[in-house]
Amino acid sequence: MKTCIVYYSLNGNTENTAEKLAKLLDADLVKLEPRTEYPAKGFRKFFVGGKSALHEETPALKPYVFDAKKYDAILFGYPVWASNVTPPVRTFIAENRGAIFGKKIGVFACQAGSGAEKTFERLALTLGLDSVPYTLVLNDPLRKPSEANEEKIRRFAESFRD
Ligand SMILES: Cc1cc2nc3c(=O)[nH]c(=O)nc-3n(C[C@H](O)[C@H](O)[C@H](O)COP(=O)(O)O)c2cc1C
Repeated sequence: MKTCIVYYSLNGNTENTAEKLAKLLDADLVKLEPRTEYPAKGFRKFFVGGKSALHEETPALKPYVFDAKKYDAILFGYPVWASNVTPPVRTFIAENRGAIFGKKIGVFACQAGSGAEKTFERLALTLGLDSVPYTLVLNDPLRKPSEANEEKIRRFAESFRD
């Protein structure tokens, strides 16, 4: 099974996790970058990003390479924004809906405290699924590294691979 990890990360937590999962799953990485990046710090970070997530925007992305036919499985990764799916991931799904249909789907989300479960429901809705069968939640894993997180990542990779 060949997996593609499609992720967005503003402050590195999701990126760090995506890289670990890529090693464990021998997966390819597709990093999503909005043409106009969101503010990465201060009040505007929460204001601009939060508003965009609440409105379920689909911001234009920088060019990326994604050859869907190479993959059996897609793993989405994003930070939780206002209990919602981060907008660049919405753009990717809108641009590749047909190509990802029928593939094995999983998701991991980084959050500060809560909201990831809600985003999984919203992601499923966006993908036209009842639910996303493989999910992983981490709390700011870059800022708060722990052996427990490493173990969660390993177990998630194992269950996704099987
Ligand atoms: C605009 C914005 C909204 C956020 N909303 C939430 C939220 O609803 N719940 C939560 O637990 N964390 C929230 N966070 C925190 C991030 O999800 C969290 O810090 C995550 O680990 C950041 O991942 P990244 O480093 O890959 O960007 C928000 C962060 C931003 C910038």
